[in-house]
Amino acid sequence: MFRNKGCGEVKETDIGSAMTIAGWVFRRRDHGGLIFIDLRDRSGICQIVFSPDVAADAHERAHDLRAEYVIAVTGEIRKRPEGTENPGLPTGMTEMYVRKLAVLNEASPLPYSMEEAADAGEALRLRHRYLDLRRPEMQKNLIIRHRIAKLMRDYLDEKGFLEIETPMLTKSTPEGARDYLVPSRLNPGHFYALPQSPQLFKQILMVAGMERYFQVVKCFRDEDLRADRQPEFTQVDLEMSFVDREEVLSLMEGLMKKLFKDVMDIDIEVPFERLSFHESMERFGNDKPDMRFGLELKDMADLAAKGTFKVFLDALKSGGMVKAIIGKGMAGLSRKDVDNLTAEAQSFGAKGLAWIKVKNGFDSPIAKFFPEDVLKAMAERLEAEDGDMMLFVADRPKIVYDVLSRLRLELGRRLNLIQSGYKFVWITDFPLLEWDEEEARFQAMHHPFTSPMEGDIEKMLSGDSNDRGLLSSLRAKAYDIVLNGYEIGGGSIRIHRQDLQRRMFGLLNISEEEARMKFGFLLDALQYGAPPHGGIALGLDRLVMLMVGATSIRDVIAFPKTQKAFCMMSGAPSTVETKQLRELHIKTDVPLEEKISGQVCDGL
Ligand code: AMO
Ligand code: AMP
Repeated sequence: MFRNKGCGEVKETDIGSAMTIAGWVFRRRDHGGLIFIDLRDRSGICQIVFSPDVAADAHERAHDLRAEYVIAVTGEIRKRPEGTENPGLPTGMTEMYVRKLAVLNEASPLPYSMEEAADAGEALRLRHRYLDLRRPEMQKNLIIRHRIAKLMRDYLDEKGFLEIETPMLTKSTPEGARDYLVPSRLNPGHFYALPQSPQLFKQILMVAGMERYFQVVKCFRDEDLRADRQPEFTQVDLEMSFVDREEVLSLMEGLMKKLFKDVMDIDIEVPFERLSFHESMERFGNDKPDMRFGLELKDMADLAAKGTFKVFLDALKSGGMVKAIIGKGMAGLSRKDVDNLTAEAQSFGAKGLAWIKVKNGFDSPIAKFFPEDVLKAMAERLEAEDGDMMLFVADRPKIVYDVLSRLRLELGRRLNLIQSGYKFVWITDFPLLEWDEEEARFQAMHHPFTSPMEGDIEKMLSGDSNDRGLLSSLRAKAYDIVLNGYEIGGGSIRIHRQDLQRRMFGLLNISEEEARMKFGFLLDALQYGAPPHGGIALGLDRLVMLMVGATSIRDVIAFPKTQKAFCMMSGAPSTVETKQLRELHIKTDVPLEEKISGQVCDGL
């Protein structure tokens, strides 16, 4: 037997007994005659002591042990001498006096010190991910990730869900990001798409009578990456038959409640708060509001219209809006600080940031454009008191929302307004359709199989298909689950009626031919007795990130990619042999030199 227990499992009750443990050499300290080593394995750390009085041979050889050598040691567990205990460590009351040392493997000098790993650049850590994953913090992340996935599986199994796999080599799905394509050798010129989600297949599983499906599944999207987005990520994807929205939402609430209780011993309040998409935009400026603090956006259009400030009046005249938030206690900001804040707002897309300090009256270059009673009404609406500052953005709605929602987060952080803990919110009643300026046509806000709200079906079927106002007002039976400002999941009740589906394609300007080409197999299936159905997909990486308190999903993915979708460890993507390309009937027009230097390695 290699070992009797894990390093982290040595307990005070073991004092006096002999045992063998194994692991990696972590920290070492030479103290005169004694050599102390923190031996580390997945279960934790145990201090081992080499003493010439206990085992001269082992002590002699311990001089040669280097960082990350793999060793097994046999010896006696002793109580640490008084004053040398480490209450911060689960095994901190004990240590092992080594009698026998076996070096199981040596390690080359490390590219960076494990003790200072947090300071090593992330690029270096990603290149040597096996070392990075040895760190207790990273191990903890993956252990919790495992626990979460296991609990989800158990919960869904109890609720009658079947885990069913769907193909990875498939057709393009309608999630709307760019596809990763895979050439088919047997069908020259033809490509599979890696799934952006199992959306079409899970709906077909409902037509196939599986009733309740789930899958913990990799999804692939070729989009611009950021801290909460990876090119391949994991969904806990599910679909149910014979349900409406409420059943999906309460199933998820039950799941979250169980997860947080079992994994973190936190009691989550259910049901979660709900906000319509419209309300979320109006109050927070986006559809994934962080509900852990207030600092809500206030509409100022009516008051702005009572003044003579041209920037505001122009914005309103051209169909834009004027909204504001309060900077609590920020009236003391220097001119330079205010300029910096303005620059920040501009970096978010604003043309400028108008401000009014409440400080023995109103102090602002724009105060002169407003009568006193209007200034007072502004302060009242924002609940601004002496010492606060009002911040205004006037522009097209998209810009106003975008800038103020980001400014809200920034101020929330800066002013320490964000409470600790977890705040869930459902965003519901999304618009069914979204006008795409560039393509001058409507797009499905979620995807084209999302059902409209019951009350809007008539309007959708019989309304004038050129009436942009009417079409924009149609609401979808779609919902997103948001946690602490992150969209951690989204789903919808689907269309199961053919007439509605046909109309939907019509409104999206998708011809029958195009629909057939793209989703023909789903449309076929929907003809043969599709039950009412709906579902949701959770972004597992994001959820785990929030639960372990990480700031990037890279920290909860064993082998993540960089911002350029590059794997620092394996070097993917890479060039391939010309022969492989020939077999696939593929020619690239990238010059050879570029290909060779094509280790597109980069920052994160
Ligand atoms: P959606 O596109 O909203 O829905 O995706 C579901 C959830 O997946 C997570 N997510 C991501 N996580 C990391 N990196 C990414 N690039 C990434 N993209 C999405 C988010 C998101 O909420 N088929 C539908 C679900 C349904 O309708 O049932 C779908 O895929 O947390
Ligand atoms: P100006 O008249 O352009 O010098 O701007 C006067 C003040 O209004 C400055 O503080 C600008 O930052 C601010 N401002 C300019 N454009 C906008 C805008 N679109 N929304 C809010 N404030 C603005």
